[in-house]
Amino acid sequence: MSNITLQDRVFSPYLHQAEIAQRTDSLAQALTEVYAQQFPLLLVVLKGAFRFAADLVARLDFPLEVEFIRLASYENSQSSGQIRTVLGLEDRLSLEDRPILIVEDIVDTGLTLDFLYAQLQARQAHQLATVSLLFKPDNFRGEHPPAYFGFSIPPAFVVGYGLDYQGQGRQLNDIFREKPSAEV
Ligand code: IMP
Ligand code: MG
Repeated sequence: MSNITLQDRVFSPYLHQAEIAQRTDSLAQALTEVYAQQFPLLLVVLKGAFRFAADLVARLDFPLEVEFIRLASYENSQSSGQIRTVLGLEDRLSLEDRPILIVEDIVDTGLTLDFLYAQLQARQAHQLATVSLLFKPDNFRGEHPPAYFGFSIPPAFVVGYGLDYQGQGRQLNDIFREKPSAEV
């Protein structure tokens, strides 16, 4: 695999689609053990998690429901810490007394998850957990770490497999990592 350029930045190959698929298999197994009898609601956080969520649910062979929400926080490649709901959950959807599994592409500072947990708890959702494909523990300063994650990664900016840089790169099948400017 070779480097790619998106706008002004260069990214090098980081996680191959085969590794992603293998980790998704293991996550699906772990989730099946916990949720198979529980009829969970999977809450997919758009846009970044769309590919991971699709590949994950394809491996979950038990009753569940899927809903989507869209939050926006990111400006360029730094978490702004300011989050807003762009697409919310319908009011009629009851979140009480059922397990909710938030599906994320990446947990970075954790501020998005804090915002989401607060919103869901305000609607009486109390059985909450998160599965995230990627987790950057060095940047994390939130209250709700993901209970399940595919890869723990250093704090470099990554794109591909749903994740974008200024709207681009979501269609890439592998995950690429930004090269430090000295190496470009
Ligand atoms: P957090 O609120 O800092 O945890 O960031 C959460 C959101 O920021 C993620 O759901 C992504 O949309 C975005 N994000 C964080 N790190 C990256 C990255 O390395 N590449 C692309 N998007 C990222
Ligand atoms: Mg996201």
